[in-house]
Amino acid sequence: MKEETIYLDNAASTKVDERVMEAMEPYMLETYAVATSDFAYSMGIEAKEALNSAREKIADRLKGDSEEMIFTSGGTESSNLALKGAAEKLLEKEGKDHIVISKIEDFPVLNTAKVLEKKGFEVTYLDVDQEGFVDIEQLEGSLKDETILVSIQHANQEIGTLQDIEKIAEICEDHDVLYHADATHTFGRVPLDVSKIPVDMITLSSHTIHGPRGIGALYVREGTPLKKQMDGGFQENNLRAGVENIPAAVGFGKAVELIDEEENERLEEMRDRLIEGISSKIPDTVLNGPRKKRTPQNANITFQYVEGESITLHLDMRGIAVSTGSACFSKSLEASHVILGIGGDHERAHGSVRFTLGRFNDEEQVKKVIEEAAEVIERLREISPLGKGGE
Ligand SMILES: Cc1ncc(COP(=O)(O)O)c(C=O)c1O
Repeated sequence: MKEETIYLDNAASTKVDERVMEAMEPYMLETYAVATSDFAYSMGIEAKEALNSAREKIADRLKGDSEEMIFTSGGTESSNLALKGAAEKLLEKEGKDHIVISKIEDFPVLNTAKVLEKKGFEVTYLDVDQEGFVDIEQLEGSLKDETILVSIQHANQEIGTLQDIEKIAEICEDHDVLYHADATHTFGRVPLDVSKIPVDMITLSSHTIHGPRGIGALYVREGTPLKKQMDGGFQENNLRAGVENIPAAVGFGKAVELIDEEENERLEEMRDRLIEGISSKIPDTVLNGPRKKRTPQNANITFQYVEGESITLHLDMRGIAVSTGSACFSKSLEASHVILGIGGDHERAHGSVRFTLGRFNDEEQVKKVIEEAAEVIERLREISPLGKGGE
C-alpha cells in the first residue's frame, strides 16, 4: 500500500493501533503458556490473568459480566454460534423451529439463517424502510410460539443505520424470544448497555476498532440456551473449544480501552463534513441510510449516472480507498442486498460508495476526499453511458 493512501474503508477492517501491537507482543514472546495451564505453573497463571483481564475490559464496555463473554475467532463465528447454537438447543429442548432476521443483515447472520432454513427451520426475513429501519410492527407480528430467536443487527455494515435495539429487545423479552444483535459496527462507537437493554447475545469483532483480526466475542447473557458449535476441550465456559488466542484477546481488550467518546465525536464531525461536502459540491447524489441515526464512522452515497466500480478505481488512482455496493465489486456479482433492501434499484446500488472513517483519518483527508471525488465524478459523468453527459 502506498504511504499516502487515505484509507476510508474502516468498516471492512482497520489499521491495528501500535499500542495494541505492543500490548500483544509479550503474550507471543514471553508469556506464551495456555490459560488452562494455570493449575500447573506460574506462566499459565499469568496467561489466564491476561485473558481474563481482556475479557473484563470488553464486558465492562457493555456493562456485562466477564463470565458472559465468550472469545471466538471473530464476528462471523460469533453469529454462527448465536444462531446455530440457540436454534439447535431450542429445537432439541422445546421443539421450536422459527427464526426472525432482517433482510439487510450482513452475511454471517444472513447466510447462517439460510443454512438453518435448508435444515428445516422456518426463517422470516423482515423488511426495512427506505432508511434501513426494521418495521417494528412486522417484527411483533412475526413472533409466534415456535420462535426461537430474533437476530437484528445494531447497525448496518453498509449504510450505518442504527436500529432501535431497545424497542426490539423489549418486544423479544415480552414474547419470551431470544434476541441476538450483531454489534460489529457499533461496539465501542455507540453505547450499548446490557444491564439496561435485555439483549441475550451480542456479536463483537476486534478488527473494526483497530484491534487484530481473527478475534471476536459473543456476549451470552447468563442462562441463555446455547449449543456449543466447536467441539473439543472445555474452554470459554464450555461454549467454544480450542486453545485460547491470548495475544489477540489482549489486543482486543487494549483496542477497547483505547476508544473514547472524544474519538467518536471526532468521527461523527468528520462524517457530517463528508456528507455535507459531497452533497453540496456534487449534484445528483443520494445519501443511503438515515441522516442522523447512523454510526459515527459511516457515510454511504450514491452518485447517479456513474458506476461505483469506476469511482472506486479512479479514487484509488488518486490514493483514496473506499468500497462500493456495485455488483462488479462483489465476489457474488450481485448488487448490494442492503441498497436493494431499502428499496433502491440496481442503478442506485451500482453507483453507491461507502466511506468509513477510523482513528487515523483527519479533517485534511476529508477535505481532500471531497475535492477528489468532485473531480472524479465530473469526469466520469462526461463519459458515462448511464445517462447524464453520455446522452
Ligand atoms: C456486520 C458484520 N458482522 C460480522 C462481520 C464479520 O466479522 P469477522 O470479520 O470478525 O468475522 C462483519 C465483517 O466485518 C460485519 O460487517
